[in-house]
Amino acid sequence: MSYECIVLTVDNGLATLTFDRPKAMNALNGALLRELSSALQTIAADEEIRVLVLTGAGDKAFVAGADIKEIQHLTPLAARHFAQFGQAVIDQLQQLPIPVIAAVNGYALGGGCEMALACDFIYASETATFGLPEISLGIIPGFGGTQRLPRLIGANLARELIFTGKFLSAAEAKAIGLVNTCLPADQLMAGVYEVARNIARKGRASLQTAKEAVRQGLNCDLKTGLAIERDGFALCLASSDAQEGTTAFLEKRKAVFNGG
Ligand code: CAA
Repeated sequence: MSYECIVLTVDNGLATLTFDRPKAMNALNGALLRELSSALQTIAADEEIRVLVLTGAGDKAFVAGADIKEIQHLTPLAARHFAQFGQAVIDQLQQLPIPVIAAVNGYALGGGCEMALACDFIYASETATFGLPEISLGIIPGFGGTQRLPRLIGANLARELIFTGKFLSAAEAKAIGLVNTCLPADQLMAGVYEVARNIARKGRASLQTAKEAVRQGLNCDLKTGLAIERDGFALCLASSDAQEGTTAFLEKRKAVFNGG
């Protein structure tokens, strides 16, 4: 399928989804969100895809937020629909059964920062900038920022960022645990593909189970989370991948997982 606002490529099990509206700093309009939703369905259904990488076209922006031109005149009801749809698409991203890495190559603001927050982790170029500047527009984040940012970096830091709308450099974002790794801009994608290839060699079922355990565990009490982990552990140990992984260790060779 061909898209107008995104580009989806797949190479050797690694999918790359690029937000592609560089003239508008890859801002999220309705058309882009609809295409993203459709692409995520395609990715979820493709068993060959092991890891998804999200990035932005051009050298300036990952995504500079929701499209301000498009949202400016929305009625409250239409605004609620827009936020609901954006949240649903970002949930769809977060619930993909495969690991998702954000390769933040520039501005990740508002909805763009919220998109990155829904990925499993973030690698950023040293020139990237993060922030939730909605307060400066007289609004608040609408695609999950008030919920996911405090869960990741703590409530007080999140409150300060949301109340001031201030931007963080990539180094600052790394210092507070928002970003895992910062790389020079021209090495970002190589670094991301290196970690993606490493992950892609692991067992598909154990990756999915680990992802699910972390995701669900963040939204429930410790006891429930530990029960989810226990069940996932037992399920994984019964798989042929676990047989291969444990046998390979004992035979002092590298495991080759077949996804069973
Ligand atoms: N929506 C629509 N267009 C945008 C945009 C956005 N979020 N961000 C940038 N653009 C457009 C600009 O209007 C401009 O278009 P024209 O060339 O047609 O004038 C073009 O992209 C380049 O932008 P700038 O000239 O502003 O570039 P800059 O380098 O001076 O600044 C920037 C870059 C700091 C990212 C600045 O554009 C900016 O602050 N953008 C808005 C960021 C923002 O407020 N995001 C939050 C949006 S609301 C939201 O996301 C709600 C939610 O939670 C879902």
